[in-house]
Amino acid sequence: MRFVLILSSIFAIFLNSAHADPGHRHGDTMPPWQEATGWPDRIVVTLADTPQNRFSVTWRTDESVTETIAQIAVATEDARFDLAATTVSARTEPLNPAMPELQGTVYQEPMNAGLPAAHFHSVTFSDLQPDTVYAYRVRGVRGAWSEWFQTRTAAETGPVKFIYVGDAQNGVMSHWARLIRASYAAVPDADFILHAGDLVNRASRDFEWAEWFKAVSHIHGMVPALPVAGNHEYARLGLSPNQTDRVLSIFWRPQFTLPIEDSLPPDLHEVVYDMRYSEDLHVFILSTQNSNIQAQAKWLDTQLSNSTATWKVVSMHHPIFSSGRGRDSEALRSVLLPVLERHSVDLVLQGHDHTYARGAIGQTPERLGWRDTGGHVQTMFVNSVSGPKQYEFQDSGWDMYEGYDVELARRAENTPFYQIITVDGDTLNYEARTVLDQLYDDFEMRKTGGIKQITRGATSTMSERSYQNTGEYPGVNDLK
Ligand SMILES: [Fe+2]
Repeated sequence: MRFVLILSSIFAIFLNSAHADPGHRHGDTMPPWQEATGWPDRIVVTLADTPQNRFSVTWRTDESVTETIAQIAVATEDARFDLAATTVSARTEPLNPAMPELQGTVYQEPMNAGLPAAHFHSVTFSDLQPDTVYAYRVRGVRGAWSEWFQTRTAAETGPVKFIYVGDAQNGVMSHWARLIRASYAAVPDADFILHAGDLVNRASRDFEWAEWFKAVSHIHGMVPALPVAGNHEYARLGLSPNQTDRVLSIFWRPQFTLPIEDSLPPDLHEVVYDMRYSEDLHVFILSTQNSNIQAQAKWLDTQLSNSTATWKVVSMHHPIFSSGRGRDSEALRSVLLPVLERHSVDLVLQGHDHTYARGAIGQTPERLGWRDTGGHVQTMFVNSVSGPKQYEFQDSGWDMYEGYDVELARRAENTPFYQIITVDGDTLNYEARTVLDQLYDDFEMRKTGGIKQITRGATSTMSERSYQNTGEYPGVNDLK
């Protein structure tokens, strides 16, 4: 008996060490879903600048696939809808995760040691009809096709519904998967999913991106992703002494096909972009870890000035008003808040603080020039988290921001959330839900007669969640 116990202990130690640092090619520590093959994987739909008639798809194969194709057809009820498919050539981009090249220098990246080079392929399907379901598939080696995915182009008018999540970051496969899948189960007709930064913990570690794609699986092929780069998408690369300063994940540009804003410096390409989804909705994405905040503020100011959308939503990783203890950034706020205020941006969706906070500025009519009606509002701010890493809410709540007339409406600790946001004409509806689909927070914002008001708010099926009244939280370092 004792012998059996000793043996099983040794086996357990072996198992633990085998799983302590997965994602290398050594031994059997790499899961089969991480390895690039001749078959397409990591398939993700992203939106081009006119999502009414274009969308992009990006996928990965091993390096044997040097050129490949994708196909698209209008999705019909016909059994052989695919007979009408047209074929599009893909762009192909190599990436060696173990020895990435950056501006002519090759770095040794120990986190990806032993991994072979992969190829990332992408297409942008163009000249599509708005509000139409298309079926598409992508190919690896000859004959190695993905399944046909269905995705819908944006409508020019009418309601738009999307999911917004804060930081996934840790335990992406083990813990975050249930949250993101719950969000899709609740809103399978979401028009897109906004990931507000820190999608993974270590920016250029292939294993974590493998988890991010595996956790969302085929949903990435159906519901477009709008990724925001967080601080964990920027990291030093390579081994010392030949090591970079913090740089954008080596995977970001190969694996996401995102709009390039020509007016911005190249380091902001594909991390700062906007998307006019419909007549009603315009979304603007910033990259707040990038040091070039002034250029982003100037760009945002111009874009907002030119936008005629009813609803303007900005998403960035670092919050304007912090909710995590000791994490306030006055520098960021001083540059970006004046732009948000100048254009009365409706909603600002953020992450980074690993807590939940939702509140607005604009409660003071004299300051904002709104008429004195109940619940008038200028800009609503949300900080949210979708992964298992959780922080403590800062002691004073938002009292420290008294000079900004910002009022905290709802807060939480120790809870991952997903949010559902719907815009429909003059109404914006917001819900924050838990993984069990409990409504934790909501509001309705309306624009009528030149007045923007909160017409419903902070209803909930749950009492406020804090470390005092929820389960244990020992941290995330022991996640497997
Ligand atoms: Fe962060």
